[in-house]
Amino acid sequence: MKRFFLMLIITITVGLAGCGSDSPRTTTAAKTNTAPGPATEVTQPAAPAKAAQAKAAPVKAAPAKAAPAKAAIVDSSYSTKRTEFVKEHGQAPKYKDSKNPLSPNTENITAGGILFRTRCALCHGNKGKGDGIAGGSLNPPPSDLSKIAAMKVATDGYLFWTISEGGGKLGTAMPTFNIMPKEERWQIILFLKSEIAGK
Ligand code: HEC
Repeated sequence: MKRFFLMLIITITVGLAGCGSDSPRTTTAAKTNTAPGPATEVTQPAAPAKAAQAKAAPVKAAPAKAAPAKAAIVDSSYSTKRTEFVKEHGQAPKYKDSKNPLSPNTENITAGGILFRTRCALCHGNKGKGDGIAGGSLNPPPSDLSKIAAMKVATDGYLFWTISEGGGKLGTAMPTFNIMPKEERWQIILFLKSEIAGK
């Protein structure tokens, strides 16, 4: 019996050893089998790369879509900052009831136009659209005066206050023109009302 068991154990161990010696063969076989594997794997990463490129394309397209959205934000930022300040705090008492003392004749409007082009167009643009060469980097940007000056809120007092005191209280880049003669400020306002508003 003992011998039988010994033989059994021996055959099992040999068998196992055999398997053991076989197994490297299978692994080498597996290795050679997998050898083309990496080759296919090499082509595989190429596919994700292409996929990544394909994904990259819409990403590139995204900023193009974002641009009009930004423009829309820009539009609302110019129109709300000052008008909402006035809604909240009311018109500055000093300017509230100001009325343009000048008559809207050609002489005054022409003078206002010249002043506008020399003092304001740099930021607001020649037609007041807010597209002057120096205005692009400002936040909030220069207002589109063709829209603002046509709004109900843009009373004489509102425009005179804005031009005279600038963006100080609002923290904007709109300069203060209180050293400009009052008459000139009023000429500019005439020009805004007749040549810029609603155009
Ligand atoms: C340095 C650039 C700059 C110049 C020059 C400039 N502005 Fe402005 N202006 C701004 C900016 C920025 C705003 C928007 C922020 C604000 O309302 O304060 C603005 C706003 C205004 C508004 C208010 C519009 C609104 O949203 O209610 C008026 C009116 C105006 N400007 C008129 C003028 C006139 C008139 C001149 C020339 C005498 C002038 N600006 C010169 C930058 C400028």
